[in-house]
Amino acid sequence: MKKIVVGNWKMDPLGLKESQKILKGVLKGVSRIGNVDVIVCPPFLYTVPLVIKTRSKKFFFGAQDVAPFESGSHTGEISASQLADAGVSYVVIGHSERRALGETSDVVSQKVEQALASGMTAVLCIGEGERDEVNGKHLEFIKKELFESLKRTDKEELGHIVIAYEPIWAIGKEEAMKPQQIHEMSIFIKRVLIERYGADAIEKVRIIYGGSVTPDNVEEIVAQGHVDGVLPGRASRDPEQFSEIVKKVSEL
Ligand code: PGA
Repeated sequence: MKKIVVGNWKMDPLGLKESQKILKGVLKGVSRIGNVDVIVCPPFLYTVPLVIKTRSKKFFFGAQDVAPFESGSHTGEISASQLADAGVSYVVIGHSERRALGETSDVVSQKVEQALASGMTAVLCIGEGERDEVNGKHLEFIKKELFESLKRTDKEELGHIVIAYEPIWAIGKEEAMKPQQIHEMSIFIKRVLIERYGADAIEKVRIIYGGSVTPDNVEEIVAQGHVDGVLPGRASRDPEQFSEIVKKVSEL
């Protein structure tokens, strides 16, 4: 499966000029790399001007969220078809920072449904708040979150799903999760997918890791963690760091 790097800019940068500068740096940095899907997710507001100014087949635009509804009276929301129309092809859904605002897995499943119906790929985020080394309760948590978030997704649609495993306790920290633990979790997620969809379910789903990914740790995360890519937050807002991450992933 083709590897993937999804950069989540979150609520930074603070202006369009700064956004353009970052994107320009990213484009320069990844211009020679062809074997990795590179996704940049700016804040909604900057997406359209960035798309208009960017003619590159080297990467895709993503959104950080999408409405759970198709259309209608939903003040402040942006629909999947509006995003697709604006040139967005990936959507991060169910990020822990959105779940922390009250977004349930049921709502997440509706958002995934909307994204896929509009022809986009959903980057579905899951992750436990803490690990339970004694009783393994975090595994039950992940299983439930995954089952519920995918409850409106059919097996045939799995090729348009990327699962971003992002343990909340490792986001925005100094250190990422240990590669061995990432490997264990990616195996566990595959097992859950097989239970839900059958043995061949995992052939098309890419599983990636997010949480304090940097150019220094990305190689061991992907190689020893046996994941199909990464989802950096902070490092994605620095064009040099982001390009370095993409480059390292492309060399694995
Ligand atoms: P971080 O963010 O790379 O800054 O830890 C990752 C994320 O929240 O997706």
